[in-house]
Amino acid sequence: MEYFEISGGTRLKGTVKVSGAKNAALPILAATILCEGETVLRNVPDLQDVRQMITLLGRLGVTCERLADGALRLRVEDEMNCHADYELVSKMRASVCVMGPLLAKRKRSQVSLPGGCAIGDRPINLHVQGMRGLGADFELVNGDILLKAKKLKGSELFLGGPFGSTVTGTANVMMAAVLAEGRTVIESAACEPEVVDLAEFLNKCGAQILGYGTPRITIDGVASLQGVEHTVIPDRIETGTFIIAAAITNGELSVEQGRLEHLIAVVDRLRQMGLNIERYEKGIVVSSARRLEPIELTTQPYPGFPTDLQAQVMALLCLADGNSVVTEKIFPDRFMHVAELNRMGAHIRKEGPTVIVEGVKKLIGAPVMASDLRASAALVLAGLIAKGHTTVHRAYHIDRGYERIEEKLASVGADIRRVDK
Ligand code: EPZ
Repeated sequence: MEYFEISGGTRLKGTVKVSGAKNAALPILAATILCEGETVLRNVPDLQDVRQMITLLGRLGVTCERLADGALRLRVEDEMNCHADYELVSKMRASVCVMGPLLAKRKRSQVSLPGGCAIGDRPINLHVQGMRGLGADFELVNGDILLKAKKLKGSELFLGGPFGSTVTGTANVMMAAVLAEGRTVIESAACEPEVVDLAEFLNKCGAQILGYGTPRITIDGVASLQGVEHTVIPDRIETGTFIIAAAITNGELSVEQGRLEHLIAVVDRLRQMGLNIERYEKGIVVSSARRLEPIELTTQPYPGFPTDLQAQVMALLCLADGNSVVTEKIFPDRFMHVAELNRMGAHIRKEGPTVIVEGVKKLIGAPVMASDLRASAALVLAGLIAKGHTTVHRAYHIDRGYERIEEKLASVGADIRRVDK
């Protein structure tokens, strides 16, 4: 089992390059199920979750090869299998994104209900509601969602749930609707940049989608889609993670490929803390503040503050000059990192979906346990500044969403290495 060994205290300085966005690449990979001919995807990060999706696509008859320049070339060779089984879906929830494409293209999809995970319950009722709204028949078979439809018909759908819209639910329904008969309108659609990137890919393939990036998306069904070349957008969560790495070590980083327009809410909060964050021709440059002001923070659907950066910013708030308040509105249980940060000397108190982060003078290195992808990143960030040694166990959680994070951090001065126990 691999873990990260970190010696805290070095200020990060230099340039780090962001990889392609995991949460854009995964639904776009699933969308290749819809395409005739060949699709070439560039800037797809080499992550555990991407490899899982490629494995799943292979079982669904979609071949995939990584070209010499790192691009992926995919082609549908066989349309017989329509089953994404529990063994694969339980390892990676985003496998659920094959549901819409299978139903649209093969008129049938059988996808295992994803279980819960470290950040809480992961229901897909809104996904199913959308598919049924397009005319699919639904059946629960041994923990699998079985959907069938001779012909999907466009209709008006509402995808708002108790915690706002659904990102992969919007992706799934959009992919189901692109080959449906007539017009589909999705109200309360997710507006995340990853949904926009998927819509742009689908339109390049011949789909007719309007309004993506807003809560109201309109899709006019077409007869077929043709595979194309597409470059995936940079990962805004990785960008935010590196910005916070510069802040927590009082360093200066240029984050190449980072897009400030994808992180407006994050930049707003970090500037409120006293950080200098500006665009430069290749991305975003961040330099730290002498002292960090405490803030109030609530996670919201895009363009609000992303839940995927809540843990990372909490690590930074541990060192602010006063008490901060963090409220998690998307996944109310997403606080697995709190106990681990407290083991490093943080003073964080949980009150339901809100935590009070009392600023402390320093964090102290300790062995800590990663639990989910973003909580693990928060523990690495804390280790970069904590006095002494920190070991972050279960490194595989990080590898799901960050490409060689220890190499990128070490290249700008962090004392971090991966150890295989
Ligand atoms: C996507 O997950 C991301 N994953 C998550 O990133 C991210 O945290 C999340 O969106 C929120 O931004 C991918 O894109 C692969 P949701 P998703 O459906 O689509 C509730 C990471 O670290 N809900 O937008 O699964 C749900 O319980 C991952 O990269 C329903 O109630 O999230 C949650 O409270 C972690 N019914 C809220 O909506 C549904 O049918 C938002 O979930 C679907 C969701």
